[in-house]
This record gives sequence, structure tokens and C-alpha cells, in this order.
Amino acid sequence: MELAEAMRTCPAMRYYKDDPIPHEVLYRAIDNARFGPQGGNRQPVRFLIVTDPEKKKQLAEWYMVPWSQYYEMATSTGEALTAESGDTKATKAMMSQKSVHAANDFAENIPNHPAIIIACADLSETHPTDTDLGRLSVVGGASIYPTVQNLALALRAEGVATTWTTLLVMFEEQVKELLDIPDHLATACHLFAGYPRDGFPSTLTRLPVEEIAFMENFDTPLTV
Ligand SMILES: Cc1cc2nc3c(=O)[nH]c(=O)nc-3n(C[C@H](O)[C@H](O)[C@H](O)COP(=O)(O)O)c2cc1C
Repeated sequence: MELAEAMRTCPAMRYYKDDPIPHEVLYRAIDNARFGPQGGNRQPVRFLIVTDPEKKKQLAEWYMVPWSQYYEMATSTGEALTAESGDTKATKAMMSQKSVHAANDFAENIPNHPAIIIACADLSETHPTDTDLGRLSVVGGASIYPTVQNLALALRAEGVATTWTTLLVMFEEQVKELLDIPDHLATACHLFAGYPRDGFPSTLTRLPVEEIAFMENFDTPLTV
């Protein structure tokens, strides 16, 4: 599949078929994803794939704690996503009520989603350079998330859909205990995966290039 098509049609997929993802497919996808960049080539990312029904049920219970709160707020005030991004304004603008309801269906169905891929990271192998700036540090994640997005794209090329989630990271301690994740690894996100129930969308809602890219200064949008 064309790289551009994969990048443009790799949404947060809310509905999956029950079919399991064959190990060969997961293996091939991770075999490609592992070439993602990370500082110093320290390769801090590890993936743990969970398909066990009981474990998924427990993860679902934990997920529902922050999700229910978020959903209630999103549906009662029309403002969503504080739990996810902390940015109610962006959510109001970008996330439709339809998307919020689909995300709720997704949450309620977690035990049935075929696979939960937990992206873990050895934080001692990351090199955040922005920890003294008096703002939220994001650089540490830069050695982790490109590899996870590589995986989402590699799975997309295999016809497998994914949804990034971070709400479960709030339960890191419990998740690590449940799944025997070694102490030195942190949980960075949980990527749900499965074959899409209704196929892939042809377009996603995103800001145009002119609103996100600029030449030389922020008064000059990038245009062609
Ligand atoms: C870092 C990150 C964290 C996210 N966390 C969650 C989450 O916890 N729960 C959820 O339902 N969706 C989560 N999402 C999915 C976003 O809501 C989704 O990517 C966004 O709404 C765009 O959806 P679309 O690709 O289907 O257009 C997350 C996405 C990212 C990139």
C-alpha cells in the first residue's frame, strides 16, 4: 500500500471484527515498526501484546474509570477530551458527538477487541532535554511514540486497524502487576488492534497544511 494512503487513512478505529490477528501479521508489523527513530539509537521501546480474555476484562474495568468521567462530561456539556489532552477548546472544535459516542462504544467493548498492544519503554534509555524548562516535558516521548506510530502504520498496511489510548496509563502500577511487566519499564500507551468491522475511512478530519505549517515565521503559512 502507498505510504501516503496509509498515513491518511489510519484512524482511531472504534469497531473491530472478532477475528484474531495472526502472529505472522503482528511479527511482520513489528519487524517494520522497529526501525523508528529514537535518541542515541538506545531503542527503549518494548511491546506486550495482550489477547487473554480475563486480562482484557480487567484492563477494561480500569479503563472505564477515567473514561466514564470523561464521557459524562463530554455528553453533558459538549466539551470532551480533558482527560485525554487537557484541551477542551480543541476538543470542542474537533471531536464530534458522534465520535464521542463511538469512543464510548469502543470503551464498553474493550474485552472483545482482539488485541491490546502495550507500548512500554525503558525511560533510563531516553534523553529528555526539556526537563528544566518549567513546562511539561515532551522530549522523552520522542524516543517512544514514533515507533508506536510506525506500528500503527505497519498494521494499517496489513489491513489491521488500531486505536491509540493513554487513559490506562493512569493505572500503570496495577497494569504492570497484572501483566508482570518488569520494574524498569514504564507504560507509554495502549494500542488496540483488530480487523475493522466496517473497513477503513477514506478521509479523516484534520487541519489543513496552511493552518499548521509556516515558512520562516508564523505569519507566513506554507502554501504551494
Ligand atoms: C496520544 C494519544 C492518546 C489517545 N488516547 C485516547 C484514549 O485514551 N481513548 C480514546 O478513546 N482515544 C484516544 N486517542 C485517540 C484520539 O481520540 C483520536 O486519535 C482522535 O480523536 C482522532 O481520531 P481519528 O483518527 O479517528 O480522526 C488518543 C490518541 C493519541 C494520539
